[in-house]
Amino acid sequence: MAIIMKLSVIILAAGQGTRMKSALPKVMHKLAGIPMLEHVYNRSLELGAEDIHIVYGHGGEHLHDYCSDFDVEWVLQDQQLGTAHAVQQASPGIADDHIVLILYGDVPLIKSKTLKALIDNVSSDSISLLTVVLEDPCGYGRIIRHDGEAVAIVEHKDATEEQKKITEVNTGILALHAGYLNECLNKIDNRNVQGEYYLTDVIQLGVKDGKKIITSQPDNTYEVEGVNDRKQLSKLERIKQQEQVELIMAEGVSVADPARIDIRGELDIGSDSFIDINCVFAGNVTVGRNVTIGPGCVISDSTIADGCIIKPYSVIEKATIDNNVEVGPFARLRPGAHLKQNSRVGNFVEVKNTQLGEGSKASHLSYLGDTEVGSMVNIGAGTITCNYDGANKHKTIIKDGAFIGSDTQLVAPVTVGKNATIGAGSTITRDTEDEKLTLSRTAQKTIKGWERPKKI
Ligand code: UD1
Ligand code: CA
Repeated sequence: MAIIMKLSVIILAAGQGTRMKSALPKVMHKLAGIPMLEHVYNRSLELGAEDIHIVYGHGGEHLHDYCSDFDVEWVLQDQQLGTAHAVQQASPGIADDHIVLILYGDVPLIKSKTLKALIDNVSSDSISLLTVVLEDPCGYGRIIRHDGEAVAIVEHKDATEEQKKITEVNTGILALHAGYLNECLNKIDNRNVQGEYYLTDVIQLGVKDGKKIITSQPDNTYEVEGVNDRKQLSKLERIKQQEQVELIMAEGVSVADPARIDIRGELDIGSDSFIDINCVFAGNVTVGRNVTIGPGCVISDSTIADGCIIKPYSVIEKATIDNNVEVGPFARLRPGAHLKQNSRVGNFVEVKNTQLGEGSKASHLSYLGDTEVGSMVNIGAGTITCNYDGANKHKTIIKDGAFIGSDTQLVAPVTVGKNATIGAGSTITRDTEDEKLTLSRTAQKTIKGWERPKKI
């Protein structure tokens, strides 16, 4: 029976990231809506890591604050003396009988599948190394092979002209037994061109100790690409976006242009839905089947049920939309908006912390805040709920079947009765009766003898 060994992950993130030219630590820069470091952390969790160690450097102290919900050991690398030195800061905290996997906080697109295959190759007799063949290997450590077997890694700066021609390079990602790693780290010195402690020396040391170096490769080179500047980050962003959009298309969703959609978080969307160009999805968004989303919509942390039509340029945040609802164009749904079946919110309507009942409509130019709207209610154009008195928020209740005339102000707290009608242009400050017409207007008059002023 195979013994399943526990996994420890060390994520190196002590690099200064100066080329980002940013006050934010490099690994906190976001890719597809979440920090690069969080991508790497999430992969570590997917692999079932027993413990995760993040090595940070000076200026990285803020990482703790940004990532306070991470379940990790934070390890400071006081001076950056090389990758072996970085690993050595964390390795004393790892049990000898674990497998250690080395990852990088600025290599965000690495896949769990690639890492699983890498870890599977680790044994007490072997070290598992992820390599990749590059058209332009300049700058990378080269994989030296004898009779086909990997026997060493030579850094670009230490390589001979002949070695520089080798196109198989070290990705930096490797896995091995923790006990053996610690043995090696004690032996690594900094006698090389850069005067650094090279983690790559474990390969030569391993070969000397009779270990086999088992190499594997990722399916795609971008998985092992690191980010040093904003241009590289934007390149990986597009790759990640393309990958995400291909997943939803494979689930039966049509996308007008896969190059013009951004998913910054999780988008779970049903088949036969259609997404037009330039939509942004952020946080956790769930969309049902047969939903049409027009161009330019920004949707975050919301749920949209089957058959809805979201018209162009609508902004939807923390809202719940039931079946067959129409929204927009130019609608704004704010946190706590709940639109029930067959309801409709039209252009320039803002809805906050409000329930709009079945079949109810607010088609034009309205603000509904802290309101409970029953079913089959018609909210006329320009209706405003005055929910805020300057100190507190108050509730408006509009019962089933009510008809609110255009340009009405409902001064909360106030209740509009069932099947009540409010005359256009009213300011309603007291509860209105069921079934009755209520209005508050000054009588219309015509001023006799009035003339328009004339230009002098
Ligand atoms: C390293 C590898 C090289 C490989 C390349 C892949 C070594 C000696 N070389 O070279 O074979 O081809 O990665 O990108 O390992 N870091 C620390 N503390 C340190 C030094 C580095 O945390 O003291 C972190 C950096 O933040 C960075 C990563 O380790 O994320 C790699 O360090 P870097 O100095 O960029 O290594 P390379 O010279 O690129
Ligand atoms: Ca370096």
